[in-house]
Formats: sequence, structure tokens, C-alpha cells
Amino acid sequence: MKIQIINGPNLNLLGKREPGIYGSGTFEEFLEWLRKRYPAEEILYYQSNSEGELIDKIHEVGFGAAGGIVLNAGAYTHTSVALLDALKAVETPAIEVHISNVHKREDFRHKSMISAACMGVICGFGLDSYRLAVEALLAKAQRE
Ligand code: DQA
Repeated sequence: MKIQIINGPNLNLLGKREPGIYGSGTFEEFLEWLRKRYPAEEILYYQSNSEGELIDKIHEVGFGAAGGIVLNAGAYTHTSVALLDALKAVETPAIEVHISNVHKREDFRHKSMISAACMGVICGFGLDSYRLAVEALLAKAQRE
């Protein structure tokens, strides 16, 4: 299965950014580990700090190019109707992920604009949130 991970704004700084919340490892290190753990799957990775570029990537992979999307939209999660519409427009199932438990944090992080267009939401497990999302996509594919 082709799985497209999409990371939004500021997630390029993982490892340096607020390590008490997001951990001290880089996403690239984690990705290497994840690909080794799922050698039979093709795990693609894209990161952008721009809302429009995230939307373009969802359009690009959302009609068959990927079997599933794992999306951490960062702060756009809480603001972007455009990302919600993009997820609604495509066919590929998406899972919303967050490294931190957004519900334990500031009130503005409790609201997600994109959850309604996602298969499910996984948050609060550190980078393992992404692995859990991959598991959920694989389990779904197996059921179908
Ligand atoms: C985040 C949570 C968001 O509220 C925040 O803006 C991020 C990262 C997370 O992975 O925990 O950039 O999506």
C-alpha cells in the first residue's frame, strides 16, 4: 500500500522545536524507522509550511496515487476550511494525527476544522501517533 504522510507548518523543525512537547528526534530519523518497520508498504513523505501546497499535495495523491493519507496539518488543523474542503474533495481516506495531546493544551487547539473529513483522529502518542495511523490504514485495507 502507498501511504502518503503529509506534515504541515513548523513540523520541519521537529527535534529543535519545543522538545518538551514534540520530542528531540527529527522526523527524518523517525521516517527511517517507520519504513523499516513496514518494509512491504511504500511510505511517502511531504512537508510544507504553506497551506496551498498542502492542498495541492492532497489533490495530487487523493485520486488513487496513494491508498491512504496520514495528515498532521499543524496549526492549520485549527483554522483551515480550505484543508477541510480538500479532504472532502478527494477519494483517498485520511487520518488526522497530532504528536501532542491537543486536548490537554490551549483551548484553541481543542477544535479541529479537518476532523469531519477524516477517517479518524490520533493524538497524544508522540511520533508513535503516525505509526498508529499507518496501522489503522492497513487494518482498513485488510477489512476491504
Ligand atoms: C500539532 C498540534 C498543533 O496544535 C500545533 O499547531 C502543531 C503540532 C501536533 O502534532 O501536536 O503544529 O499538530
